[in-house]
Amino acid sequence: MVLLDGKKISNDIKNEIAEEVKKMKANGEKVPHLAAVIVGNDGASLTYVASKVRACERVGFDSTMVRLSNTTSQVELLDKIYELNDNPDIDGFIIQLPLPKQIDTQKVLLAVNPDKDVDGFHPMNFGRMALDMSTFIPATPFGILELLDRYGVDTQGKHTVVIGRSHIVGRPMSILMGRKGFPGNSTVTLTHSHTKNITQITSQADIIISALGVPNFLKAEMVKDDVVIIDVGITRVPDDSTEKGYRITGDVDFENVSKKASFITPVPGGVGPMTIAMLLKNTLLARERQMK
Ligand code: GUN
Repeated sequence: MVLLDGKKISNDIKNEIAEEVKKMKANGEKVPHLAAVIVGNDGASLTYVASKVRACERVGFDSTMVRLSNTTSQVELLDKIYELNDNPDIDGFIIQLPLPKQIDTQKVLLAVNPDKDVDGFHPMNFGRMALDMSTFIPATPFGILELLDRYGVDTQGKHTVVIGRSHIVGRPMSILMGRKGFPGNSTVTLTHSHTKNITQITSQADIIISALGVPNFLKAEMVKDDVVIIDVGITRVPDDSTEKGYRITGDVDFENVSKKASFITPVPGGVGPMTIAMLLKNTLLARERQMK
């Protein structure tokens, strides 16, 4: 069994990006600038955004965190987005999801300038991805592709089963694994809450990508020998024995499934760190595109 070490690979990627930034500085060029907008006080979202800002500092990017209150109106948020769209110093920005209930997420994502949409959530970028055109690939799916690529995991002709059809992970992943090229050329099954007899499907999978958010959902009896497992679950489970009072748990019963797997991502330290590294990569791409 090979552990797909997202912590190590994400560090490698950040070092590569830091090298690029050094070259930019040496050439007297402007360094990439990422902005992150966060609305409200959700603990997990604040933690993610703080990690994104720290990662920018580590590679030498400029970063701006925009914090808006939980009672922010749709119009106020849209105004902030128009400001970021028009600010030539900002190369890319993200709106951390989920948003409070008074806000229409679809309208907000549509307002982002597609050239600055480093999350790849704008319908224009999502459509470009589905049509194999150059675009910003959403950071978590992009990170999974990068892990498969750097570990040389064979995906061609394999049966990939994706669990969960979220717009951020499951849906784009199902498109990307079926695209022509590597990683891709898979035969893809997208499963979700209405799927009947999921064990029958997962037990035929060569590769399983689980983005469900149900701790320990995928059990050893549900997979075949030598399966490749990508666990995207990051649920906070209460645990008094830890300093924070919770621990992060994936969708996969790691202890037992890892005994059957050929490759598997740990949680934490698998897909999670890759997401941030690929957001940085998209921001670097955004800067490079602005210069062209
Ligand atoms: N919420 C959970 N994952 C993500 C992500 O990748 N980007 C944004 N903006 N919000 C998220």
